[in-house]
Amino acid sequence: MREWLAAQAASGFIRFDAAAGKYQFENEMAMCFVVETSPAFIPGFRDCAEAMFRDLPKLEAAFRMGLGVGWHQHYPSLFKGTERFFRPGYTVNLVSEWIPALDGVEAKRKAGGQVAVVGCGHGASTILMAQAYPKATFVGFDYDESSIQRAREAAHEAQVSDRVRFEVATAKEYPGTGYNFVAFFDCLHDMRDPNGAAAHVIKSLKPDSTWLIVEPFANDKLEDNRHGMRADAQPSLKRHLLAPFERSKFLRSGSSVRTDGACQLPRPPASDPTPASCCRCQR
Ligand SMILES: C[S@@+](CC[C@H](N)C(=O)[O-])C[C@H]1O[C@@H](n2cnc3c(N)ncnc32)[C@H](O)[C@@H]1O
Repeated sequence: MREWLAAQAASGFIRFDAAAGKYQFENEMAMCFVVETSPAFIPGFRDCAEAMFRDLPKLEAAFRMGLGVGWHQHYPSLFKGTERFFRPGYTVNLVSEWIPALDGVEAKRKAGGQVAVVGCGHGASTILMAQAYPKATFVGFDYDESSIQRAREAAHEAQVSDRVRFEVATAKEYPGTGYNFVAFFDCLHDMRDPNGAAAHVIKSLKPDSTWLIVEPFANDKLEDNRHGMRADAQPSLKRHLLAPFERSKFLRSGSSVRTDGACQLPRPPASDPTPASCCRCQR
């Protein structure tokens, strides 16, 4: 712990009072390092980073052989770390900002409906929605069996198991049709065949329904992607943390719900007659 504190003090993230031999977090930094419910809480990423190191031999072999490494093949701390790193952002944004940003979806979910969450991981976003919309029923799908197991436990702990199921299934083959709402959180880009997944989603949706896709946002040019998360850019960091409702634009490198009509997904084949809507672009 002392070594970690020293490293953070050397980087300027926390204060060190040499005379007293004490370390001190400023409020903004406590939100990042200590307050688990804060949207800025980042220690979950430590578990993700551990997986990167532990996966090196696997990655090296994959590079040598020209193969890929599936999400489910990573060291398990990645799954836990992803949930811990992303959950605070979902807790603060999903029900209060993202869903209300979609045309008519909040009112429809308050009234009920069938919701599928694909690539649900450990189920944080599914459970948050189930808690917010008790008249709706939810099913979370993920192809990683260990994640589904953990999601079921989490639903039980949150006492929403009566309205939430979690099942092992891929994005291209999950069962069911007539969903009123399908959501993908930070997973479409992880899928081997996003076009195939998109075609399946569109078939699984009821007419006049919505597909929510939450993805990390990046600009096309490197120079447009510098966002000052360095220790020497603390004034900028503080400004963002002190304006908490700006956070979804910043803390996850700009993950956002596309509500501006500019859906970035490939169009489904013209031969697919299933009427469906995606965000606002109505495809
Ligand atoms: C970055 S994690 C996001 C997990 C969760 N949605 C969240 O935001 O915390 C990506 C998830 O997509 C799942 N996934 C990847 N490819 C998939 C596929 N083809 N079908 C179903 N799930 C998939 C992974 O197992 C993993 O749980």
